[in-house]
Amino acid sequence: MAKIIGISGSLRRGSFNSALLRAAAAAAPPQLEVEIASIRDIPLYDGDLEAEHGTPPAVASLKDAIAGAAGLLIATPEYNGSMPGVLKNTIDWLSRPPKDMARVFGDKPTALIGATPGPNGTSGSQAAWLPVLRVLGVRPWFGPRLMVREAGKMFDADGLVIDEALRGAIAKFMAGFAHFVGA
Ligand code: FNR
Repeated sequence: MAKIIGISGSLRRGSFNSALLRAAAAAAPPQLEVEIASIRDIPLYDGDLEAEHGTPPAVASLKDAIAGAAGLLIATPEYNGSMPGVLKNTIDWLSRPPKDMARVFGDKPTALIGATPGPNGTSGSQAAWLPVLRVLGVRPWFGPRLMVREAGKMFDADGLVIDEALRGAIAKFMAGFAHFVGA
């Protein structure tokens, strides 16, 4: 059984991206476990805080979780045509200090998914992540893209997927990513 870490870039209770991530975790094949990690306790990056107190506990534990996992699954919202600040802030913290970056991210199988009520399915945000993933040194999975548009029609009030085609796309995506991580 391989385990991967999933993070959602939204703190919102009714987040479509968190709902998508939960659906992806539930749809993972039996040989793949998706552990969903929260980014809620990650502080704003502050070089003074880092210099004086080192790595914050929430950052250190998420770094260790990713380092010990077989892969990373990122559910990204799209803000203003790009990635949201809260998620970029998290990744920036996780990349510190630079000498520890390879332990956490080096060659780590990594996939992006995203959901938006808008029409473009987070294509701007997912594209914006690509140069960041390159700097981190992950091994990106470029299988079929999972970009959920018109998310308000895809999930019910409890965040469960109600669209059959989306359910199939999520299962296909997770089967492909499981294969990529070697699960
Ligand atoms: C948005 N939203 C948005 N959606 C989109 O498809 N393209 C965009 O450029 C933006 N820009 C944007 C900026 C800001 C500041 C906010 C707060 C929102 C809408 C966004 O997709 C929507 O709020 C989602 O519901 C956010 O994801 P969660 O929280 O549902 O996971």
